[in-house]
Amino acid sequence: MSGAVVVTGAARGIGAAIAERFAAAGWDVLAADLAPDVEQTAARLDGAASGTVAAAVADVASVAGRARVADALAALDAPPRALVNNAGITRDALLKRMTEEEFLAVVRVNLGAAHELAALLAPRLADGGAIVNLSSKSASGNVGQFNYAISKAGLIGLTRALALELAPRVRVNAVAPAFIATEMTDAIPDELRERFVARIPFGRAGAPAEVADVVHWLASPQSSYVTGQLLPICGGRSFGPS
Ligand SMILES: NC(=O)c1ccc[n+]([C@@H]2O[C@H](COP(=O)([O-])OP(=O)(O)OC[C@H]3O[C@@H](n4cnc5c(N)ncnc54)[C@H](O)[C@@H]3O)[C@@H](O)[C@H]2O)c1
Repeated sequence: MSGAVVVTGAARGIGAAIAERFAAAGWDVLAADLAPDVEQTAARLDGAASGTVAAAVADVASVAGRARVADALAALDAPPRALVNNAGITRDALLKRMTEEEFLAVVRVNLGAAHELAALLAPRLADGGAIVNLSSKSASGNVGQFNYAISKAGLIGLTRALALELAPRVRVNAVAPAFIATEMTDAIPDELRERFVARIPFGRAGAPAEVADVVHWLASPQSSYVTGQLLPICGGRSFGPS
């Protein structure tokens, strides 16, 4: 498959694994991230890739950042075929302590930037293109994460609405990882992490590469009749005992 993909939040974690998966399959990849480290991530992947892996240091929650992403995508040789909305943040707090700033920041990045990038880039995607949104098992609710849960539940609605609007030209799907070992989950206290892992039927956290394989499949022609769907990646957690 020749095509270019934008992966947001690609400096590290799941986003870096997704960028690596697409690069390994021969796509041109634009790795976009607020963190300047994305340049090192892209340079590391570019060395091993048959296509190009380029970086854009950009805050996708800002108009200027999204414009930088669009310009960098247009500079790649391959036609744009996919957008992966992976950039995400947490600002956890209980209802009584959550500030308006923490609430809005999470909704702004996790949901707002995904919508605005989709609006900007969907018309530029080649026919048969795809958008994949990183939702979360937390969309169904987590104590201390109502801002995050709202943003991830909103992504499911965005996925379904855009899938209808953009059909049949562009497919839109979402994945819902449960507990994946990255810097985001490293920030969770050990005792809580052990409790989460104990509830996963597979008995372990997922690896970023295990999310990347599914995201790549959802952007590839192998899933050509799949749109508007939410696919859990959870080691059985989403239907296991609570
Ligand atoms: N790790 C998990 O268990 C898990 C589970 C479910 C869903 N997710 C989702 O998967 C995605 C990736 O998670 P992760 O664990 O790799 O997170 P992470 O914190 O390790 O990486 C997120 C990346 O997004 C970037 N980013 C944040 N705000 C940005 C912005 N405004 N513009 C551009 N880049 C920005 C960060 O700089 C970082 O490189 C997130 O959307 C997260 O909510 C993760």
